[in-house]
Amino acid sequence: MPMTVTYLDPVHPVDVSDHYGGQDHPMRIVTREVAFDNTWDAERRATVRSIFGGLAEEWAATRSNPERMIPLEDALARGQVQGATAIELGAGTGIATRVLQEHFSTVATVDLSPEMLFRAPEAALRVCSDAQQLPFADDTADVLVLMNMLLFPAEVDRCLAPGGALVWVNSRSGDTPIHLPAEDVVAALPGHWQAVASYSGTASWCVARRF
Ligand SMILES: C[S@@+](CC[C@H](N)C(=O)[O-])C[C@H]1O[C@@H](n2cnc3c(N)ncnc32)[C@H](O)[C@@H]1O
Repeated sequence: MPMTVTYLDPVHPVDVSDHYGGQDHPMRIVTREVAFDNTWDAERRATVRSIFGGLAEEWAATRSNPERMIPLEDALARGQVQGATAIELGAGTGIATRVLQEHFSTVATVDLSPEMLFRAPEAALRVCSDAQQLPFADDTADVLVLMNMLLFPAEVDRCLAPGGALVWVNSRSGDTPIHLPAEDVVAALPGHWQAVASYSGTASWCVARRF
């Protein structure tokens, strides 16, 4: 039986500031319940959509900086992620879209919140959808990217093609409100998965594949 999570050396390590108490954040509870107990319903969807809709303007103004993309670039490179079709779930204002377009020929940018998605680059296929029930056929994506986004294990498993990779990034590692450690990402997914993981700047990432 192979190791489930293999850690690569951290790069550009820096301390996460204590400004953010992600561990106690209500979204952390939602993250764990969605991943492990499948507790997502219309009320929770409406609440999450409303929260992020209200944050959209500020998100676009404050989160869109190149440094924030370094961990994603690191995950794609050291996680040896390849393919033609990438779908980013919970893409927000599409900050990662251009990075993904440099790596993949087809990129879809998915978010629950229209206010977030309206601010995403128009060049991408922008899809306003709930990631719990995606409008994609089985095995559509070579790569699924979830950056600070809830994990819906069954839908990830359905949409990810055989041999595909799930890229999971938490911008502030364990202080990110929507956070799962690599071991929990792998444990929540149906079937047998293994991952490579690392730390990059303030972020943690893992790239998970079925085996
Ligand atoms: C913390 S933000 C991260 C945005 C972006 N990935 C980033 O790192 O800048 C989480 C995003 O996930 C979206 N989201 C939350 N639940 C979702 C769901 N069930 N389906 C699709 N998007 C969802 C929110 O609307 C929000 O834009």
